[in-house]
Amino acid sequence: MCGIVGYIGTKKASPILINGLLRLEYRGYDSAGIATIEKNDISVMKDKGRVKNLYNLKGIDDLTGTIGIAHTRWATHGKPSKENSHPHIDNSKTFSVVHNGIIENYHELRKFLGDNGYTFYSQTDTEVIPNLIHYYYSKDNNNDELKFLRAVRNACKELKGSFAIEVICKDYPDNMIVVRKDSPLVIGKGENENYISSDIPAILSFTRSFYLLNDLEFVILSRNDAKFYDIDLKPIKKDTKTIEWNASSAEKDGYDDYMLKEIHEQPTAIRETIGSKLSENGKCDFEDLDFTKEYLKSLNKIYIVACGTAMHAGLAGKNAIEKLCKIPTEVDIASEFRYRDPIIDEKTLCIFISQSGETADTIAALKLSKEKGAKTLAISNVIGSSITREADFSIYTHAGPEIAVASTKAYTSQVILITLLAIYFSQVLEINNEEINNLKIEILELPKKIEEALKTSEIVKEFSKRVYQEKDIFFLGRGIDETVAKEGSLKLKEISYIHSESYAAGELKHGPIALIENGITVVGIMTDPKLVEKTISNIQEVVTRGAKTLIITNQNIDINGFDMVIRIPNTSPFISPILSIIPLQLFSYYISKEKGLDVDKPRNLAKSVTVE
Ligand code: G6P
Repeated sequence: MCGIVGYIGTKKASPILINGLLRLEYRGYDSAGIATIEKNDISVMKDKGRVKNLYNLKGIDDLTGTIGIAHTRWATHGKPSKENSHPHIDNSKTFSVVHNGIIENYHELRKFLGDNGYTFYSQTDTEVIPNLIHYYYSKDNNNDELKFLRAVRNACKELKGSFAIEVICKDYPDNMIVVRKDSPLVIGKGENENYISSDIPAILSFTRSFYLLNDLEFVILSRNDAKFYDIDLKPIKKDTKTIEWNASSAEKDGYDDYMLKEIHEQPTAIRETIGSKLSENGKCDFEDLDFTKEYLKSLNKIYIVACGTAMHAGLAGKNAIEKLCKIPTEVDIASEFRYRDPIIDEKTLCIFISQSGETADTIAALKLSKEKGAKTLAISNVIGSSITREADFSIYTHAGPEIAVASTKAYTSQVILITLLAIYFSQVLEINNEEINNLKIEILELPKKIEEALKTSEIVKEFSKRVYQEKDIFFLGRGIDETVAKEGSLKLKEISYIHSESYAAGELKHGPIALIENGITVVGIMTDPKLVEKTISNIQEVVTRGAKTLIITNQNIDINGFDMVIRIPNTSPFISPILSIIPLQLFSYYISKEKGLDVDKPRNLAKSVTVE
């Protein structure tokens, strides 16, 4: 949802900015632009289309400025066009701004500025920002070194909504100001230079030392320094954090696409996420959590709240928590949860799952739960991300950076982490049984079994070639397999643009079967031995009506008579989604490739949805 990059240092800024944008393009890719300070003037170059188009802009190679801001856009206000692209500039061409987020009161601000003589060239909400900064700047007669900062701060006080912004000013050619509120932004500290980015991977090849910003902390950056201020412009002290991810984890490493690479990184991601949380002797340890038996016993409900794929990981979490710990658990979509007045009190634990930790609806749902008195626990892949800073407790998946828009390794890492959390709860509650002991053994063997499941790649590819021109594909499953059907179907529609739906297999007869006719493809997932017979009957019903069938099942389940049967290693049903989703991730991937689509950057989607 828009990506921001900035540079201030001794090197030519423009190649660094474009390179950074290319790495952030998964956040938005309908237009891009950069602004640099060139001999005390601001130069803005931007256009509709992909970041790489910037290389063709006339004059881009002549830029020599060593300070600049850059943006790749995912349109919200105003269609993708050159005028609506960022950076934006004020009427007097004194300030240039890039912005990620939404300014909710931009109509009022536009009117106010219009009444004060300002004009606008774009339909964006962002264009009010440089002009509002100019408005305050022109009213300030105190020409000291903080005048630029005061103008930005005064403007930000007027903004409602979410924003991460970078501002340059031609009167302060050695400074840049950045600030964020409910939108991500990090600062990477280099030697005589500072980098700014919407997220860590884009600038990981330059530094591992990062400043993480809280909401409404203002930063004046220069080559050698970063000065932090609160909203009252009182200086704040801030230390850097070292990020352990290495730079190559954000590269394609010889794979054609990030998605394929990330699918293959799942054994490592799962191994790293399990880490030392589960030892050989079966003890489950979350060092950052100190839930007591009394507290867990007092709970009337657990909510798991998330969006998209993360919500599907939550469904696996519900299954594990309810079955292993007997605590009623509800899974909700964050955008619904926040507006449906959920019944929450101090006896409710609310768990929020978000790969990025920056999803606007998830953050809002978390804030609401806190207001209502619940304890909150965040599950994220990004240390220091917004949900982890808001929540009472945070635990992390260690999937490494996930670049492809369609989530793969983040999902499976979330499933394993929340399953470990359920085991930890059962341990605190002193529940101990064979099912849990077996699950622990299976968890430790999981990375190897994922490697086995990845070997299904060739047969999946073969089946994908047979069905890639389909218009509709249905996914069916029961119990835990239904959660995988949901995720498989989402993956397919995200990157192949094939219409797809998932159903609980038993629901088929209550409507969807009317859509089944000759040649329709149905994917059946049946890994739970207890439910397999039932699901087979449902799949037979679609075979009878002429459907082509792809079945994902276990090695020890004996089934025949379908067009393609793909077998994954046997494991505990609690973690079977981690294995059964793998052929389905590959299925979506190969269909998308067969159709010649951009797998990593599907149309209309963005990796991180930082607006409502
Ligand atoms: C977007 C992404 C999905 C992701 C969802 C939630 O829709 O395209 O892959 O599952 O946001 O993102 P989060 O960062 O909160 O997990």
